[in-house]
This record gives sequence, C-alpha cells and structure tokens, in this order.
Amino acid sequence: MKIIKKILEMQDQSDHLRSSGKKIAFVPTMGFLHEGHLELMRYGKKTVDTLVVSIFVNPTQFGPNEDFDAYPRDMEGDLLKVEQVGGDIVFSPEAGEMYPADSQTKVVVDKVTKHLCGLSRPGHFDGVTSVVSKLFNIVKPHIAIFGEKDYQQLAVIRRMVMDLNMGIEIVGIPTVRESDGLAMSSRNAYLNPQERASALCLKKALDLADRLANEGEKNTRTIKRSMEELILRHPFTEIDYVQLCDPVSLEDVESIDGETLVALAIKVGRTRLIDNKIISMKGDFS
Ligand code: PAJ
Repeated sequence: MKIIKKILEMQDQSDHLRSSGKKIAFVPTMGFLHEGHLELMRYGKKTVDTLVVSIFVNPTQFGPNEDFDAYPRDMEGDLLKVEQVGGDIVFSPEAGEMYPADSQTKVVVDKVTKHLCGLSRPGHFDGVTSVVSKLFNIVKPHIAIFGEKDYQQLAVIRRMVMDLNMGIEIVGIPTVRESDGLAMSSRNAYLNPQERASALCLKKALDLADRLANEGEKNTRTIKRSMEELILRHPFTEIDYVQLCDPVSLEDVESIDGETLVALAIKVGRTRLIDNKIISMKGDFS
C-alpha cells in the first residue's frame, strides 16, 4: 500500500492508473476509521481495480466553536485498517498542502444545503463540497463512495457532481451500526458510559417514527413530538433538530405520503450526533 502526501504525486499516480486502463474507487474520510468507513472501502475494493482512501481532517468544514482540534486522530491505526481491507493508496496531505495561504475558491451548493445540518452548522457544507471537489480533482476517481449515515452530505455531493458535470459515479452505503443500534461515528469516542447509554435515543426515536407511520400515523408534527418526548426522557440530551422531510429536496413535509426522510441531530453531553432513516406510510411498499 502506497502512502502519498503530495498532490502532484497523487495526480501522477491517478493519471498513470487511468492511462493503463485501471478504474479508481475513492473513499474520502477524516480518519479515526471504524467499520462504517471500512464497509465503504470494501465496496470500492470489490467493485473496481484500485482503491484510494483519503485521510484528511478538513479544517474548513468545522465552525469556529466546533471540535476541529479535539477531533480524534490515529494515523497508525488507520493505515493498518486500510491495508487490511486491501486499500491500494492512502492520500493524507497536510493542511498547508491542501490550502496554500493564497487559495480563494469555494464550491457552494445552494438549496439542498439550506436545511437540517446546514442550518445549525453554517458554512459546513461549503467546506465539505470545496474539499471533496479538490479531492476529486486530485484522485480523479471513476466512482466515489459515501455513507448514508451523513444523508445530507451524500445528497449535497450528488447535486454537486450533477451540477458541475464531474462524471463521477456516487455510491451510497447503508449506515453501519454497533450491535445495540448506535450508528458508528468517529465522534462516539467522545461519549462517557452514561452518555453512550443515552445516545441510543437517536436510533430509538427513528424506530418510533417508523412504527408510528406503520401504524397509520401520517401527521409529521405528531410523529416529531413523540420522537422529541422520547429523546428528552434520556439524560444529557439536547435536541438540535428532528425533521421529517422529502428525501431529495430535504424540504419539510407535513404528511407522510410516500418515502420520507426522518433526520435528527442530538447533542449528548457535548457531543453532537446525527442519524436518519427513510420511512413510508402503512401499506406503501414502494
Ligand atoms: P467522515 O466523517 O470520516 O466519514 C467518511 C465517510 O464515511 C462518509 O461518507 C460517511 O458518511 C461515512 N460513514 C461514517 N460513519 C458511517 C457509518 N456508521 N456507516 C456508513 N458510513 C459511514 O464525512 C466525512 O468524513 C467528511 O465530511 C468528508 C466527506 C471526508 C469530507 O471532509
């Protein structure tokens, strides 16, 4: 497995792979890898010839009061994990390599960033789309693989790739969970044992929404209220948002008339966690 830190070297490698007819799969990450990340990589590895993984904690997607400095890092452990799933290249640039002092360009996606996490984390998606565009130009993949755990991120990337005719196939992989249902996340490392127990409320609230819709409840306000009550019964929790929305536009819906995205962001202690689920009304098996 090759470890590349320089942009020009990565671009040369990709040009070489492409000109020898190889297909490149790309999994961008911020490291501190867990089974969720590894599932994305396994998909890439079994689908095409060469798997490139980036590990870069991207400063521009963190707000001034967010956890950039505290974000967990374990480069040695990460490299072993990528190697074990058969990764071919790890691209792990320094921040100065990605963002020279005079860089001035941002990639901004409009409407789909104006909901959910876009409201509570201003500028976050501009940071994500800008760094992912740069990574796409550096790694030059045929396919790029993202997790449905970050549902809005996946929707935003799909929009960007379409709008800018990037010609990269975007694949979404279902959320990988701990055995008790908590969605895997690098940020779970921040939770103490009491908070870890409370964090189960995210999955429980999503399952409750699913059950209510299956029992025939169509009113999203009623479902949302029940979810909020369940969440707040768990200690250390603070609701950032609980939304039921259209799975493509991410606009709120009043009634469950087809597939509906239930998305939530909850602070458990100081840790902000997100999760989501697609639900549909009773009898709708589309
Ligand atoms: P990061 O949080 O490290 O996640 C990297 C990829 O792993 C994302 O596509 C994310 O959706 C996916 N992922 C995380 N947890 C998952 C889980 N439990 N199951 C399945 N997939 C999961 O997302 C980012 O980094 C960054 O925003 C990035 C795209 C790298 C840009 O900086």
